[in-house]
Amino acid sequence: MCGIIGYVGYRNARDIVLEGLKKLEYRGYDSAGIALIKNGLFLFKEVGEIKNLENEVPEISSNIGIGHTRWATHGGVNKKNAHPHVDCKGKIAIVHNGIIENFKKLREELEIKGHKFTSDTDTEVIAHLIEENYDGDIRKAVQNAIKKLKGSYAIVVITENEPAVIIGARKESPLVIGIGENENFIASDIPAFLKYTNKVKYMEDGEICEVGRNEVKIFDLDGNEVSREEKIVEWSIEEAEKGGFPHYMLKEIYEQPKSLMETMRGRIGEIEPFVDLGIGLEDIDELTLVACGTSYYAAMAGKYILEEIAGISCNVELSSEYRYFGKRKGIVLAVTQSGETADTLAALREAKRHGCETIVITNVIGSSATRIADKTILTRAGPEIGVAATKTFTTQVLTFILLALELGIKKERLSHSQAREYIASLKKLPMAVKEVLDKGEEIEKLAKMLQDNESIFFIGRGINYPVALEGALKLKEISYVHAEGFAAGELKHGPFALLTSDTPVIAIVSQDKTHEKMLGNIGEIKARNSPVIAVADENDKEIAKFADYIVRYPSLPPFVASIPITVILQLLAYHVARLKGRPIDKPRNLAKSVTVE
Ligand code: M6R
Repeated sequence: MCGIIGYVGYRNARDIVLEGLKKLEYRGYDSAGIALIKNGLFLFKEVGEIKNLENEVPEISSNIGIGHTRWATHGGVNKKNAHPHVDCKGKIAIVHNGIIENFKKLREELEIKGHKFTSDTDTEVIAHLIEENYDGDIRKAVQNAIKKLKGSYAIVVITENEPAVIIGARKESPLVIGIGENENFIASDIPAFLKYTNKVKYMEDGEICEVGRNEVKIFDLDGNEVSREEKIVEWSIEEAEKGGFPHYMLKEIYEQPKSLMETMRGRIGEIEPFVDLGIGLEDIDELTLVACGTSYYAAMAGKYILEEIAGISCNVELSSEYRYFGKRKGIVLAVTQSGETADTLAALREAKRHGCETIVITNVIGSSATRIADKTILTRAGPEIGVAATKTFTTQVLTFILLALELGIKKERLSHSQAREYIASLKKLPMAVKEVLDKGEEIEKLAKMLQDNESIFFIGRGINYPVALEGALKLKEISYVHAEGFAAGELKHGPFALLTSDTPVIAIVSQDKTHEKMLGNIGEIKARNSPVIAVADENDKEIAKFADYIVRYPSLPPFVASIPITVILQLLAYHVARLKGRPIDKPRNLAKSVTVE
């Protein structure tokens, strides 16, 4: 997730673009850049915060410019990979948010034609493709160039040859036009220009726009002009940063269909089934997984997934324990959304010191973990601002499914038809999560029923055990309600003593080999008068005879279903915390990244 902005009008473009970039910093930043036109194209880039860039951009009195704040997905964090990127002659500049899946092939073709590349990014191919198609009409050049792209993009383009116009185009990445008086804006998100105008036109997938100082035109891919209604945005800047949601956490919960799609983008193919996470993994028989907190629960889920699908035996350790007591041989795979958790970095260093091969699953390219580990797999969830991990957990679990499928196919543990079935179910996943998100009101009703309970238990078997642990962690960290997760078979070994009619139990029920035993566990709980809320498959007919309240999730293979199930538990935690008036995005005593051991 990057932030992009373009401005054309009568004001100082340098200041407007830099100010817009600061407002987009919540979309992530590892580097930033700006291009301005004033008798030629001027380009400035810096690594780090926007203020580093601000210090470097001289006062140029330009009225047209574009800017970008980068959250890297291809190529390391450095100046040459920062946007804007330019064509060979340095006359066309482009900023991009998204992932171009076929960039390697396009780059090879363009290099054969003589184009010179200066970065490792997927974005630069777009600049050269536009150059290749340019014959005096920048909109047509963009229109022809994007027809060759596979993947997702929101792009904004300027050229010194046509210094009064900005071109934008989008597919599966946001782009919105801000309509001013004698000035217009284009950005990935409204806060970038909300100070100047609240009149907007939203671009749709497959559209191209031409934005001048006094005119905005939108076209389809064939160049036909389309009409678009102007909308008025009533949000404050703060509300706009949260996309109109009251909290970042809720926004991030609702972003999951998109983030899951990004995790899979370009990494799976269904017809000739393949999964490729791009780090050249070969046969692996054993893995040690290390992580903390929510990432640890994702690693626990990873163990179930890797063992069953790929036959890889996994040893899961808390980073803080591994450091002193862990098994220091073989391959060590760390899971960390931030890539900065001190305990996990220490575990990785310890593994390296003992000669282990190291891999990290993380959300942040260029983070310390990516610099320590030999190999990196990015979850591509986009920046997460709420302290409670949500979209980063579900994309970690999905990454484990992809990893297991890649290795299962390579090890020939999966037949083509089994692999194809899995991949088909993954393709349904974003929609399944959307279905669960549509149950917001139903889950809020359940939260109202539970908000006054002092203690709530979560139970599950198999992968639903770590999901139960994660559900309990979400609830306790943001609502401060005491919550515990258990493997369903374990209640009778002690926790039963805590059950009363005031201890609701949330039971996660899958329609697999654990189904019957779960129903038995629910029966035992009911015999102790505790209310049971089942999170159950939409096709589970029997559960209605056992549970007091049921929230249904769409039917999917159990590993894949663990993701929409998690989303239900995230929404439940969120609504309980909101009803209790907790500071959801910044719970007491917690930090987003724990950088002390
Ligand atoms: O950045 P990491 O994934 O390494 O962070 C580990 C934990 O601190 C983190 O998962 C924490 O438990 C969550 N923020 C809880 O929601």
